[in-house]
Amino acid sequence: MKFLGIDLGTSSVKLIIMDENGEIHESISEKYDVSYPKENWAEQNPEDWWNSTKEGIKKLLGRGSIHGEDISGISFSGQMHGLVLLDEKNEVLMPAILWCDQRTQKQCDYLNNEFGQEKLSKYTGNKALTGFTLPKVLWVKENKPEIYKKIAHMMLPKDYISFKLTGKFATDATDASGTLMFDVENRKWSKEMMNLLELDGTVWPKVYESWEVIGNVSEKASVITGLSTTTSVIAGAGDQAAGAVGTGTVNKGILSVALGTSGVVFACNEKFSVDKVNRLHSFCHSNGKWHQMGVMLSAASCLQWWVKNINADIQGDAFEKLLGEAENSPAGSNNLLFLPYLMGERTPHDDPSARGSFIGLSITNKRGDMTRAILEGVCFGLRDSLEILKSLKVEIKEVRVSGGGAESKLWRQILADVFNLNVNITNSKEGPAYGAAILASVGCGLYNTVDEACEHLIKITDKSLPIKENVEKYNKLYKVYASLYDCLKESFKEISTIS
Ligand code: XUL
Repeated sequence: MKFLGIDLGTSSVKLIIMDENGEIHESISEKYDVSYPKENWAEQNPEDWWNSTKEGIKKLLGRGSIHGEDISGISFSGQMHGLVLLDEKNEVLMPAILWCDQRTQKQCDYLNNEFGQEKLSKYTGNKALTGFTLPKVLWVKENKPEIYKKIAHMMLPKDYISFKLTGKFATDATDASGTLMFDVENRKWSKEMMNLLELDGTVWPKVYESWEVIGNVSEKASVITGLSTTTSVIAGAGDQAAGAVGTGTVNKGILSVALGTSGVVFACNEKFSVDKVNRLHSFCHSNGKWHQMGVMLSAASCLQWWVKNINADIQGDAFEKLLGEAENSPAGSNNLLFLPYLMGERTPHDDPSARGSFIGLSITNKRGDMTRAILEGVCFGLRDSLEILKSLKVEIKEVRVSGGGAESKLWRQILADVFNLNVNITNSKEGPAYGAAILASVGCGLYNTVDEACEHLIKITDKSLPIKENVEKYNKLYKVYASLYDCLKESFKEISTIS
């Protein structure tokens, strides 16, 4: 049996073909652009997603080793929260507003302060954040009334691809959780939130569990892609829930940390639970359980920025050179701290105007200290979410790290030292796409449950154990780090108003 996992990311779509033993046979990525039409805006054209996905499928099948009929099931991982709007002819009404778009502060203020955070939390388990979908819908209502009137279907990014493949409108409980329209505890659309939009309740798609079959590849999609109409299409999950399946984070006690563009701390809960003041997101998990998660907006992208923008003139492998220098800097980077808020921050500060900073620079600091401070600053930012989980008494025994940043042994060691926890990596190098392929295998009946599939397929391949002296040093520095945002937040606000 073969399964196609499609991970619709922000910069590319990744497709992998996995067999029943979890081995990857083929993989391909197709890139697309993000457009930033105004400061704090981020948009993509859903047609670009579909064109890239379609091309990716054709190229994979065109290699000749695997045919459309060999694929038993397809499933998805998708960038979350993005708003896709279609009219009654199923045509895209405007570019999708993405998860990292920050234009909706006014709508969030209305939702949290006037509609009321308590009510929001009661109905959805979450508060309004600029990245979430409902504030984007309210923005369209207020700023594009002519488009708002024509809305016949709303959906999330990966749901547009499943629509193109099956002709059906479907989403899943994990992705729906990030809309702020979803009753996370009871895993269904919230009637109260639907009433707020004064739109027909059918504008949002039918909700499935992540492993459930939503239909088959349609005749039309089969002709376009070379897939077979006998192939089942399975609902899939938001990228964090799919990524957690890819690392086997499906039981309590395991903490998934994603060091991707964004940085995520994700704990699986057996039951729905919500922090009274909504510091963490409370969402459905893709195995029928729930999870709590903190999201920082810039994680591996801080290193990317440092290497590509600031040290662009380095010849050869700039990542290797800079990380080598960082390795020679001691734990604590000679007491230099870095605040990783290059794109504002979500957890825990919920502040689009927060900005990155080096604090504590001295005449003796070298570039290696600065590179190391960036790696450490990202781990301190992740620790903010860890501390909230600890305060909520969430059980944590080990960390499983994934994403591009996890390839650095140095970064994994820093994470183990800053968290004072064992940090493991697993056999799956394909991240959320692997989680998507696993969900497809469950949907096709190869496994009875997502947890059973993970038990069979996910193995730990390397461990970083905390080093006592470093843990002590980082505990002291983290205290300082944790106090800096409050000292600087008014300055960040003021900077953002200077034209
Ligand atoms: C999760 C989140 C990101 C995006 C982009 O809340 O915003 O994971 O899905 O990857």
